Amino acid sequence: YVGDIFGSALAAEGIFAFAVESGFLGILLFGWNRVGPKVHFFATLMVFLGSMFSAVWIVVANSWQQTPAGYHIVGHGMEVRAEITDFWAMVFNPSSVDRLTHTWLGAFLAGSFLVLSVNAYYIRKNKYLEIAKPTFKIALTVALISSLCQLISGHSSADGVAKNQPAKLAAMEGHYDTSAAADMYLFGWVDNKKQTTTGLAIPGGLSFLVHQDFKAPITGLNAFKPEDRPSQVNAVFQFYHIMITIGMILIGLTVYASWLWWKGKLFEKKWLMMIFVWSVLLPQIGNQVGWFTAEMGRQPWVVYGLLRTSDGLSKNVKAEQVMFSLILFTLVYTTLLILFLYLLNKKIKHGPVDYNTKDPIDESSKRDNPILEHDGQH
Ligand code: HEM
Repeated sequence: YVGDIFGSALAAEGIFAFAVESGFLGILLFGWNRVGPKVHFFATLMVFLGSMFSAVWIVVANSWQQTPAGYHIVGHGMEVRAEITDFWAMVFNPSSVDRLTHTWLGAFLAGSFLVLSVNAYYIRKNKYLEIAKPTFKIALTVALISSLCQLISGHSSADGVAKNQPAKLAAMEGHYDTSAAADMYLFGWVDNKKQTTTGLAIPGGLSFLVHQDFKAPITGLNAFKPEDRPSQVNAVFQFYHIMITIGMILIGLTVYASWLWWKGKLFEKKWLMMIFVWSVLLPQIGNQVGWFTAEMGRQPWVVYGLLRTSDGLSKNVKAEQVMFSLILFTLVYTTLLILFLYLLNKKIKHGPVDYNTKDPIDESSKRDNPILEHDGQH
């Protein structure tokens, strides 16, 4: 049904982004002492740009599912399918810019908090300080800017959801009344059977965020037929609120650490470094629950308003076969995750290596910063 749309966006990803990414990844990983530092840095930048570009196409395809545009429907019965009529309207569909910005920032947060975590670990252990402290500061700058921008971007996404997918917005805040002012919960619980939401809320908060008026009505779930709205309201509510809570913690943490930096006391608090070591988990969880919010909130549609999830099933594929491939995927990815964590942990424990000799850095000598050494600054 949507092969024509997905096909073009994913083909663009394969041709433009994967090629750039994979080519330069080879130089990034295996080129340390085969190419000069400038070429190596260029390769690093290209991997970064390639993965940003890769995100464009996959997020465009997903956004088209959420807010379809630039297409018409052709064919009848089993042959029916969506065909692109305007490529750029498809690319810039109503939610793609917001979603792409939000996804990119989520990735910057994941990356910068990984760097913060590794270097906080070294700082706590009093190791490789000449590299760890400046790297921590660079990562903190990226993390601070990204976490503040993520709040602005999230607000803009929520505005878009209010316009384009009102049933999703209502589920995100557990708002049932057909047309009444809506609260903004800090945390809570939704009982979908009783249609009640309990918790700590700012009265009229959602109305204010969307319409800048605490009393403005917001369309609630009961304005939609039961078959046209998400059924897992509490799950959407919880995932959404976990994401926001994480967003706020990241802001608090980076603002506080930046203030300490300004005061010249950033590395004095061991407990703060410990929090940074574990903080690597937060953006990872934030990204997962963000996608759960977006995708579960989109139900019952595969393509919003066009194709129901129940109609997206292939009659030829049996439930057991779907289950089998899901189990297989889970096993393969769990194995890869364990391997990744094992290797990452080994690399972190091993510490940085000398740029020229590939030997572990000898901390007792002065040659503990390969980059400075290469530039002849030692
Ligand atoms: C700070 C407050 C935040 C707000 C107000 C916010 C708001 C939103 C909204 C409204 C959506 C649903 C968009 C849609 O379905 O069209 C969303 C999705 C998402 N969020 Fe957040 N978010 C925040 C923080 C974060 C953080 C900290 C992360 C990750 C580190 C994150 C990652 C995501 C991801 C990956 C998605 C799915 C992609 C998308 O639909 O944009 N969000 N967010």
